[in-house]
Amino acid sequence: MHGSTERKTALVTGAAGVLGLAITKALLAKGLRVVMTDMDQTRLDVLAAELGGEVFGVACNLTDPTEVERAVATITERAGDVDVLVNNAGILSNNKTATTSSEEWRKVMDVNVNGVFYITKAIVPGMKRKGWGRIINMSSLAAKSGGITAGTAYSTSKGAIISLTFSLAAELASAGITVNGIAPAYIRTPMVTAQLSDEQRAAVLARIPVGRFCEPEECAHVVCFLADESSGFITGEIIDQNGGLHFD
Ligand SMILES: NC(=O)c1ccc[n+]([C@@H]2O[C@H](COP(=O)([O-])OP(=O)(O)OC[C@H]3O[C@@H](n4cnc5c(N)ncnc54)[C@H](O)[C@@H]3O)[C@@H](O)[C@H]2O)c1
Repeated sequence: MHGSTERKTALVTGAAGVLGLAITKALLAKGLRVVMTDMDQTRLDVLAAELGGEVFGVACNLTDPTEVERAVATITERAGDVDVLVNNAGILSNNKTATTSSEEWRKVMDVNVNGVFYITKAIVPGMKRKGWGRIINMSSLAAKSGGITAGTAYSTSKGAIISLTFSLAAELASAGITVNGIAPAYIRTPMVTAQLSDEQRAAVLARIPVGRFCEPEECAHVVCFLADESSGFITGEIIDQNGGLHFD
């Protein structure tokens, strides 16, 4: 931090997912200590053991603010204050308004918006103590496009993540903390390989000018860029990563 050689600590949410795991690997390769969070402690332990090195997992359901506070206390005790928070956990729903139940709406908002708020709120005091921090929020092209295949609740939740990014960036810049987002589209994870029909996948692929889906490692690369010491003058930015599907 501040050019010091101290090893930084990153916290990655949804770290047992495909993208979260790619982000964890990339941050470890960059020399950070990584704390993985997700729902299942056993799965996290297996993944951390496979990865080896400066990594451990702490299970936490992000929709429960008390559980989040407890997890952050455990993490701080084991690894000190977190320097880099990657808000990656999220759930997809492809239902448009007519087929979205109120339960589904609340669940998507709870994970994709409330969970991000709870963990960010719990982590920020430690960053303030250090006078340095990087927060990276996973939004989506769906926030800007209205959802090509993604549903209403998901698209709205990812729009909220963009607004939250702007709000936090304005609030935290003077504390040395940058807050940025990524708006990816169609990363080759189960959200694409399992939650789209063959027809939807083919139709989407035909529309992507780059002519392929995004690899998880490519998105992890953007996370590493934003987490870097030298990215300190970038805040309140949403980086598009969509293979040319959308320009703004
Ligand atoms: N895959 C894509 O094409 C794509 C595109 C744009 C944005 N994104 C976003 O990237 C992020 C990661 O997506 P992915 O494709 O790797 O999904 P994924 O389903 O593989 O991983 C998401 C992880 O979040 C965890 N999670 C869900 N609810 C949780 C909760 N309440 N508490 C803690 N953890 C919880 C899951 O257990 C899972 O491991 C998501 O926010 C997603 O919206 C993905």
